[in-house]
Parts: sequence; C-alpha cells; structure tokens
Amino acid sequence: KEIVVSGIRSTGFLHLGNYFGAIANYIRMQEEFNCYFFVADWHSLTTHPDPKDLRSNVYRVLAENIGSGLDPEKVTLYAQSDIPEIAELYLLLNMLAYLGELEKVPTFKEKVRLNPNNVNAGLLTYPVLMSADILIHKAVKVPVGKDQEQHLEMSRNYAQRFNARYGELFPEPMPFNYGDSLVKIPSLDGKGKMSKSENQMATLYLADDDDLIIKKLKKAVSGDAPKVPNSPKTELIENLFSLLRLVSTPDVVAEFEAKWNDCTIRFGDMKGQLGEDMVKFISPIREKAKAIQEDHAYLQKVLKQGAEKARESAVKTLSEARKLIGIHYY
Ligand code: TYM
Repeated sequence: KEIVVSGIRSTGFLHLGNYFGAIANYIRMQEEFNCYFFVADWHSLTTHPDPKDLRSNVYRVLAENIGSGLDPEKVTLYAQSDIPEIAELYLLLNMLAYLGELEKVPTFKEKVRLNPNNVNAGLLTYPVLMSADILIHKAVKVPVGKDQEQHLEMSRNYAQRFNARYGELFPEPMPFNYGDSLVKIPSLDGKGKMSKSENQMATLYLADDDDLIIKKLKKAVSGDAPKVPNSPKTELIENLFSLLRLVSTPDVVAEFEAKWNDCTIRFGDMKGQLGEDMVKFISPIREKAKAIQEDHAYLQKVLKQGAEKARESAVKTLSEARKLIGIHYY
C-alpha cells in the first residue's frame, strides 16, 4: 500500500477549508492506503500559544478528525511531538536548506508582514520541519489544500538533495486530492481563502452551532446580480456556488444555476438554501466531535497507540538516514 502523510496544526477550531482541503481526503484515503495523520503541535508553537491551551487544541483537532469519520484503527493517528525522530530528521534536513530559498517562501513573507516582531527561526524553517514530517515515513502522497502546494515542492527538493548527496532514500512526495486539483475553499467575505485567523464571521467552523452557520451564510458576500441571460459567473457568486456544490444535491445546484442563467436568481434564497444544507452537513460532525473531545481517556489511548506505530516507521527511516550520512560509530 502506498504511504500517505498529512498533518493539521493545533491552532484552534477546524473550519470548512480544513475539512474539504484535507479531512475529506483522509476519510477516503484511509480505506485504500497506509496512512499517517498527525496533529502538528510543534508547528503551532511558532506563535507561542498559551501552554494551558495546547492540550485542548490538540484534543480538538483529534476529536474533529474522528468526528468527521477518521478511524484510528484504520490509520496511524498521532501527535507530531511524540515522534522525536522527526526533530532529528529536521535537524539533518536543515543542513540542506538554504536561507535564500526559505526567505522567498510566500507563506513566510506573509507572516513577516503580519507579525514583524516575531520572525523566529522556527517560522523560517517551517517548510523543513514539514518535509521531515513527510519524509520520515517515506510518503508518496500528501493530501493537502492548495495553500500547501509550495511547501510540498520544497519537500521534493530536500528529498532530491538528500538522495543526490548521500544516496537514494526518499521517494518524492506529491500533493494529493481526490478531485482534479487541490482545493481552495474561499472565505465568506470574498477576500481570499477561508482561514483560522481571519475574520471569524467569514469562516465556517466545524464547531459552529446551527444559528451561527445560517447567520454567517446570510452575511456572505454574493456580489452583483446578473443583468443579461447566461452571464459568466462573477468570482463572488462562483464562491457561493462552489460551497453549494459541496453540501447540496446536484438538483439544487442545477436549479440555482438555471436561475442565474435566466436572471431570476435571488441571492437571499440561495444563501438560505446553502445555510440549511450546511447545517445538515456540519451539525452531525459537530455533535460527534463534542462528545469525543470530552473523552480524554479515549483520546489518550488513540495518541499512545498512534505514537507507537508512527515511531516504528520513523526509527527505521532515521537510522537509514544516519547511516547514509555517516553517523555510525560503533
Ligand atoms: P493547516 O493546519 O493550516 O491546515 C490543515 C489543512 O487544511 C488545508 N486548508 C485548506 N484547504 C482548502 N481551503 C482552505 N481555505 C484551507 N485552509 C486550510 C491545508 O492545506 C492543510 O492541508 N503546514 C500545514 C500542516 C502540516 C503538514 C505537514 C501538512 C505540518 N506538517 C506535513 C502535510 C504534511 C498547515 O499549516 O496546515
């Protein structure tokens, strides 16, 4: 079975972008592949979260994944920080990562712009740690959203560089999505992608209650109404159609497309329908996740079992990497 690795940072509540970019793929992939999925708690430390929040954030990511249908018996589910081998591989890969290329990464530049007072080395080498996460299990497929594409390209660079210098060890990991291309779920305010840190009212969380979901979708920007039949869709309305396609039936989508085309569409109706279908989609996940989040004994069992399995694979890869580099003295 092909090896799959992917992670989600423990930085707060998961949203629809995390679901459709990552988790929806995880749930299908668990049936066909050898999957390693983890909570990227080290990655979340770049912003210095309050220590008392870290545990509940890690539990939340686990609970929301399991509540969405991920089965810890089918995949290896663990916390990144439970696998010290990842940190050692990160150190080794750092020797192959160059300052110039790290400084050019768009996500790094964006973080520097937003938070110029906290440009720490962990932020700079974020893609190197991510590469270690992936290469430690020799993954070939990495289910992620569009925003992670560049990081994946860097992982391939480090794999190639290592192989060229020390000998063949790592396969090249490719980003993966079941659809034709990587997913980018738009924000409800029409400004870029949905994300954890931006405008809360423009982000749909898996933990949102029904009224809030409906309210957020009512406020979603929809742009101008079509003035002539069969107009091409504006970017704003296409954003709403893309959400409708994810949670509504094909009949409903076809109905609103027809109304767009003959100019009888009423955005209020469309957003109302989207709200209703979104509630049907999110509420069962929310309720399952809520119950799991409280069950600390269960989550701890999942973490321990996952760490054990993940370490087996990690120890093996790391010892191969050490040997190739020449670290074997006795
Ligand atoms: P993170 O925690 O920001 O996001 C987790 C996953 O959700 C996807 N995602 C989206 N997909 C589509 N549309 C959106 N609006 C959207 N927002 C988020 C992300 O692409 C991601 O797949 N660096 C990673 C975590 C990570 C990782 C790894 C991933 C660490 N090591 C190794 C894969 C492999 C991150 O910050 O994701």
